[in-house]
Amino acid sequence: MLRELSLNILDIVENSVKAGAKNIRIEVSAKGNDLKIVIADDGCGMDEEFLSRVTDPFTTTRTTRKVGMGLPLLKMEAEMSGGMFDITSAPGKGTTVKSTFKIDNIDRPPLGDISSTIISLIADLNEGQELVFKFEAFGNEFSLDTSQIKRELDPVRIDEPTVLVYLKDMIKENIITENGGVSL
Ligand SMILES: Nc1ncnc2c1ncn2[C@@H]1O[C@H](COP(=O)(O)OP(=O)(O)OP(=O)(O)O)[C@@H](O)[C@H]1O
Ligand SMILES: [Mg+2]
Repeated sequence: MLRELSLNILDIVENSVKAGAKNIRIEVSAKGNDLKIVIADDGCGMDEEFLSRVTDPFTTTRTTRKVGMGLPLLKMEAEMSGGMFDITSAPGKGTTVKSTFKIDNIDRPPLGDISSTIISLIADLNEGQELVFKFEAFGNEFSLDTSQIKRELDPVRIDEPTVLVYLKDMIKENIITENGGVSL
């Protein structure tokens, strides 16, 4: 099992990339005792019939193995920690995956290394693919938009190692994941 929500996020965004999304949005927000994670894309989407069975491990379009665990695992993690899971999708429009977690639930996996997750996703973006990351917790907000960063950096590439290191530090310095004994 993945015991860091950041790794679940990595998995879900991998689906968006495979779905040919041009725009991917990751939102992590903590309010009161609720941690919410939303991943939205404008990829190929799924039809109603496929969507209705998508959290069944045997629903996959993978050809390398017969099970797909990304969505079932996230759903299980959310439900085991007193939260909820919801997925909406429309063919040709995109997909939105929402999950919530009770922060104080002992079965909730820690968020883990979210800055590394975001950086590895940025490093792997395809040409023309953009990522927005929003983080909100303990009264503090941070957001990052790769299309804006690319414009500012031009002609330097966003996936240059030095840029990635810089961005990782920037994320780390600007998000609050621990406050008053509460750790996300
Ligand atoms: N964002 C998405 N857009 C379009 N189709 C999706 C999306 N997310 C999931 N799917 C479809 O749902 C299937 C199941 O996804 P899931 O993440 O549970 O498993 P998987 O991606 O097949 O395998 P694994 O995550 O274990 O590598 C995928 O194979 C894909 O066909
Ligand atoms: Mg997957």
